[in-house]
Amino acid sequence: MKKIIITIDGYSSCGKSTLAKHLARELNYVFVDSGAMYRAVTLYFLNNNINWNDTEEVVVALKNITLAFEYNYEKGTSDMIMNGTNVESPIRGMAINDKVSEVAAIKEVREFTVAQQQRNSIEKGIVMDGRDIGTVVFPQAELKIFLTADPEKRVERRYNQLLHTGVQVDREAIRKNLEMRDYKDTHREISPLRKAKDAVVLDNTDLTAKEQLELVLGWAKEKISS
Ligand code: DC
Repeated sequence: MKKIIITIDGYSSCGKSTLAKHLARELNYVFVDSGAMYRAVTLYFLNNNINWNDTEEVVVALKNITLAFEYNYEKGTSDMIMNGTNVESPIRGMAINDKVSEVAAIKEVREFTVAQQQRNSIEKGIVMDGRDIGTVVFPQAELKIFLTADPEKRVERRYNQLLHTGVQVDREAIRKNLEMRDYKDTHREISPLRKAKDAVVLDNTDLTAKEQLELVLGWAKEKISS
């Protein structure tokens, strides 16, 4: 059967990774959470006191970072591994949320992550979520989705997600962080968040995860059989 590339871009906390993960599981495709890569680079920079305004320091630091994903298909998880260590938990904290958009705006960082993301397309059968996947990483993708949701709903989702991982943060801090990241992600010079011309907009404010999955699965199957 034909295999395709599916891209899911959109604002922070719209549920992109959840949709991408479920879609990949249903189709037996590879799932790549590109945001996790920017988060891991940010963690490395913070842990190693890298001054990311200094290009030379950034270039040297990137040479010391190896990123990989570890999948557990039974559990349906995809963990970020940086330099052999599972960093899935630390990359989801507020310290990273606060800085990741700044780091993701750096040209050398994007070149480093995008090159690795594009290597995945050698074999199709991939679902990747992020901000520039349909526009820059895989402009040739057969199915592109631009996900959006009501801002209050997104705050609630991120709040519950953090609670679930044992992190207590107030809603106002989350709201401010989402606004700040959306602003930075859409206004940066290199590969800002944009809807690709041929992307389908999906507002999932009033959809359950299951409804959303069924809808997108239908679109994917149409593309696969066309
Ligand atoms: O999807 P996320 O919230 O985990 O992404 C974290 C940050 O990484 C987000 O604020 C912007 C950046 N990002 C990006 O610039 N390009 C991508 N393809 C994915 C994420």
